[in-house]
Amino acid sequence: MTKIIHAYSSDVVEVASDCLNSGGLVAIPTETVYGLAARADIDQAVARIFTVKGRPIGHPLILHIADLDELSRYTTDVPRTALVMASQCWPGPLTLLLRRSGEVSDLVTGGRDTVAIRVPANETTLRIIERCGHAIAAPSANKFGRVSPTNAQHVMADLGGEIDLVIDDDQCSIGVESTIIDFTRGEPQVLRPGGFPIEDLELVIGESIGAPTGESRASGMLASHYAPHGSVKLVSSLNEARELHENSPSSRILAHSEDLPLYAASLYSQMRQADIDGIDTIIAIIPPQHGLGIAIADRLIKASLA
Ligand code: TXA
Ligand code: MG
Repeated sequence: MTKIIHAYSSDVVEVASDCLNSGGLVAIPTETVYGLAARADIDQAVARIFTVKGRPIGHPLILHIADLDELSRYTTDVPRTALVMASQCWPGPLTLLLRRSGEVSDLVTGGRDTVAIRVPANETTLRIIERCGHAIAAPSANKFGRVSPTNAQHVMADLGGEIDLVIDDDQCSIGVESTIIDFTRGEPQVLRPGGFPIEDLELVIGESIGAPTGESRASGMLASHYAPHGSVKLVSSLNEARELHENSPSSRILAHSEDLPLYAASLYSQMRQADIDGIDTIIAIIPPQHGLGIAIADRLIKASLA
């Protein structure tokens, strides 16, 4: 049985943190997408995340902490630029990849010597983590390879009956996953474009952030990901979208492509709704390659390869 508790109920922090502390799985709201949380130091609970999601063991999870002060507990050798970024951008849609400390289990990092870590911008979730007294591990609360959830109904549709508790909060405000910056390879590199625009992060640290080098390290970097059931066709303009729409019997053009924050915030809801409505072809206009447009284009391209 999955219980649902409203984010505004007076005992939400107690109920959720008690559940996590006793090894339960809780779907938590964040500003990006909903996460499927377990206490990161309870191996049995973390292992259940992989089972429930159908996620291959070895795909590392993001640690969520309540405050920058907790960073030193889970990481070592943090470069100065990473600290500058964290102190100016957290809480927010930014994940840092750093060297891990002995407090982080192999199950969370897939045996790597690095850990991905962030402070999410959601008051309820921050208070829950704080009351747990330990970091929580949380991937997006969807089945592996599918579209991330941006509200509690999406979580229930994917994982209802399989997890212990869902916190029902407002729609996630950003709507795409956090930007991941790798600080373990010398110069900072973008592992995954996301809710925090790269240009803004570059301004914060006063240096440019490069493309990833070496082997693929983030599962969001797999070719096919973030996929609805309908096939996603990419176009570059509204005219092109309309022409394709007229020639495709069961198709729909994704709305809000002219408003990047709204396009991001509604993207996954629109994809899920198209599936519910039995749409065969989802037509998506690729946004301009700046700001949130980079993350949106990344998700659309991956969805189109499914
Ligand atoms: O916005 C977000 O980041 C959301 C919310 C819930 O916080 N979380 C999220 O988690 O998107 P997930 O598991 O869906 O994606 C985490 C990404 C994966 O691509 C994973 O491979 C990468 O982070 N990652 C985590 N730890 C890593 C590590 N040690 N090395 C390389 N990549 C890592
Ligand atoms: Mg995910």
